[in-house]
Amino acid sequence: MEHISIRPFVEGDIDFAYELIMIEEWNYVKEDVERMFKYNPLGCFIAEVEGKRVGHIFSVSYGKLGWIGLLIVTAEYRERGIGKILMKKTMNHLLSREVEIIKLEAVPTIANLYRKLGFVDEYDSLRFSGVSRKITSLSSHCVKFLKKEEVTELAKFDAEYFGANRIKVLMRLYHDNPKLCYVSYTKSKITGYIMCRKAEIGYRIGPWVCNPEHSQAAQELLMKCMDTIGRNERLYVGVPAVNKKAVEILHDLNFKRYSKSIRMYLGKKLETECADGIFGIGGPEKG
Ligand SMILES: CC(C)(COP(=O)(O)OP(=O)(O)OC[C@H]1O[C@@H](n2cnc3c(N)ncnc32)[C@H](O)[C@@H]1OP(=O)(O)O)[C@@H](O)C(=O)NCCC(=O)NCCS
Repeated sequence: MEHISIRPFVEGDIDFAYELIMIEEWNYVKEDVERMFKYNPLGCFIAEVEGKRVGHIFSVSYGKLGWIGLLIVTAEYRERGIGKILMKKTMNHLLSREVEIIKLEAVPTIANLYRKLGFVDEYDSLRFSGVSRKITSLSSHCVKFLKKEEVTELAKFDAEYFGANRIKVLMRLYHDNPKLCYVSYTKSKITGYIMCRKAEIGYRIGPWVCNPEHSQAAQELLMKCMDTIGRNERLYVGVPAVNKKAVEILHDLNFKRYSKSIRMYLGKKLETECADGIFGIGGPEKG
């Protein structure tokens, strides 16, 4: 029997992880992997067989909420139980801390792997793609560039919908892409925000969060990003199917649905979460 071992992920594993991610064509850049590692270095793991790296997994924790993503086992080592071992190691890591609920987004054909580990389906997470363009009719008087000193307040607003404070992710995304982050205000209160970043192909949109009572602001935030990115860039966004308003906005702006994942969770549901305000997820690997 070959010996499977799991060890902590270290910085020197980033290139290996990025190679596997490229093979899967998930359209990430290396900075995405670096960021995921930095969010929770002790919660990311490498699987080895006889000392050879054969897989990885990443996780983030936001207090009571934990998130698992980027699970890959190299093709020739699949179906030997390695994926399951990586999952169990990561679940134990999160649950042995303050995490009470773990979430992930599953490729539908893989969802059974997670169901067998106790995860329950929550909702479909739709994938849309569109094309950026200059928008002449922008009336976005309430939409402004996000400033660094606003991120703490923004994280509190975000937590009302996301269900937990993810300031470390928002701060880092802002730091890496300050020109692609916008916030909207109504009567000096934050009503929404959007963050975008470069992907291998085109741009990834999200998190994109808005008070559902101000969905016009959600549309203006997205249009502002499309306008800033400029002409003919491919845009990608993941949207909870339960957010009908987000789906409507994307249809209006000619985005097309190309696939879906299944949002799943394990543990006690957060009362603080409100998917009606999640117009675009931050990413399937971190919520
Ligand atoms: C998903 C992946 C990590 C699974 O790794 P793995 O080492 O082959 O998984 P395991 O051998 O531990 O399988 C665990 C269980 O899931 C099931 N499973 C694994 N891959 C499956 C698949 N593609 N379809 C259906 N079931 C699958 C296995 O049958 C097994 O069930 P069992 O516990 O009843 O025996 C691997 O297939 C992979 O890297 N895929 C490409 C990347 C990907 O899609 N990642 C997941 C994104 S959500």
